[in-house]
Amino acid sequence: MKNKAFRLIASSLTLRKIAKPKRNITTGCQVDWRHHIIEQTEVSTNHLTPEIPLRLITRNCPLWHQKEDESVFKDPFWAFYWPGGQALTRFILDHPEVVRGRSVLDVGSGCGASAIAAVKSGASQVTANDIDLVAIEAIHLNCELNSVTIATSLDDLIGSQSRGNWEVVFLGDMFYDEEFTDRVHEWTRSLSGSSIFIGDPGRLFLANHPLKKELNLVHRVELPDSSKEENYGFTEGYVWEIVNR
Ligand SMILES: C[S@@+](CC[C@H](N)C(=O)[O-])C[C@H]1O[C@@H](n2cnc3c(N)ncnc32)[C@H](O)[C@@H]1O
Repeated sequence: MKNKAFRLIASSLTLRKIAKPKRNITTGCQVDWRHHIIEQTEVSTNHLTPEIPLRLITRNCPLWHQKEDESVFKDPFWAFYWPGGQALTRFILDHPEVVRGRSVLDVGSGCGASAIAAVKSGASQVTANDIDLVAIEAIHLNCELNSVTIATSLDDLIGSQSRGNWEVVFLGDMFYDEEFTDRVHEWTRSLSGSSIFIGDPGRLFLANHPLKKELNLVHRVELPDSSKEENYGFTEGYVWEIVNR
């Protein structure tokens, strides 16, 4: 799993193969993801927002060292706290005025850190969205750890006609391939009434995309050593606001 974990967080990864609900072949029952998450992760504060403990797969977890096919999880992106998400969440905690009294959508929420930060910073309503069912379970567990409650959505909102009424939209480390960056860009153009913030460690798909011309840098932070090691040379995290739509 260690190699797998490193590959997962490489800048060129593709996140299309998202975990689907598995069935136990012998019983036909739904897998108890909550149980597996608790068993296979540890509570970590070794990141940029230690005031938000999170259940993550770390080097201390057996799964980190196991082979990919020994894992009950398929592509557990929720089990890592991505550098772009860390920078974005730090920004939310340091600038609560961005969300205070406002409705917030965290798209591709993963472990749920940015959504949790929004609740802690006084947002009026927060929805954590992820198309991975296991991520949604992990988000609920992380909410419990942090004594907050948030709504979750499993819908693929990106590209959907559903506009929602979110005053603030967060995108933490979502620019991992060109086609997906195009999709997200097009979708953000339809959210004309929302403030949109992006957390990113400098991935090329964002740096070289026309979207970059619409961005204003609002926060820059050095990544913790653990994150630098795991992310192939990324050393900083950036938070951008989309301003020129
Ligand atoms: C790189 S991870 C980032 C997670 C978190 N924002 C962070 O920074 O730690 C990307 C997340 O986006 C989710 N995802 C991928 N496509 C999505 C889509 N169309 N809508 C919502 N979530 C999506 C994945 O399941 C994964 O949890």
